[in-house]
Amino acid sequence: MPQTLDSELRRSLAERVRYYRELGIYDFYWRESPTPDQTSSSTFESEIREEMSARKSAVVPAIAGNNLVAITSKPEQGVADPVAALKLIREDLGDCTRCKLHQQGRKQIVFGVGNPRAELMFVGEGPGADEDAQGEPFVGRAGQLLNAMLRAIGLAREQVYIANVLKCRPPQNRDPVAAETMECLPFLDRQIALLRPKIMLVVGRIAAQNLLRTDAKLGALRQQVHSFGASGVPLVVTYHPAYLLRSPAEKRKAWEDLKFAREVFARG
Ligand code: URA
Repeated sequence: MPQTLDSELRRSLAERVRYYRELGIYDFYWRESPTPDQTSSSTFESEIREEMSARKSAVVPAIAGNNLVAITSKPEQGVADPVAALKLIREDLGDCTRCKLHQQGRKQIVFGVGNPRAELMFVGEGPGADEDAQGEPFVGRAGQLLNAMLRAIGLAREQVYIANVLKCRPPQNRDPVAAETMECLPFLDRQIALLRPKIMLVVGRIAAQNLLRTDAKLGALRQQVHSFGASGVPLVVTYHPAYLLRSPAEKRKAWEDLKFAREVFARG
């Protein structure tokens, strides 16, 4: 039985996988090659085999000079109609069982909602109870506030696209764990790559830290234009509406962030 990866190793593996994904390489499988020392392969290698379990699809060139083989086909590639392309990503997600959340009380997957040609994309953390029940992001109390935040910058909910880092509700709305975000983020990355919004407004610490791959506090991330991944989509961070409901005094700062986002949007 392989031992569990320590957190540092797991983090570097996640980084490596993400790096390949930014290059457009999405899936990996392990090609067996019976070498004399294979029986003594390291725990790390065994863990990689487990992490990157085989998915049969069009095979493209080996990337790692050894057994790791990359698969680059993405079903939405080359599909011009964004509605059809988003549908293909949703179909690829399927009735997802990639992480344990499917066994932990999720009612349904909450993929994303809104205008597939949106110039502004909102990204939150993950579905809560209302979203899990209705299958749509930000429909509960936090969603009402999000709608008000949108109206404050002159936008209707129907004009933007709204998604989350996690597509399934974690039990008791706990913070996501690395294994969950590692499986789920590639789908958000694909939604972003497809929409290519003029700006992303990311709400809350968890979403901001995951998209920017940082441990920095939210306060240190707001009021700046970040660049998202390989696509370089401008990304602005503000407080999560659920936090603002608990701490209404912070709404003033959120309003500053919204005005800032509106300026960046107008510049773009
Ligand atoms: N909080 C989030 O981060 N996302 C939702 O969809 C709802 C609440």
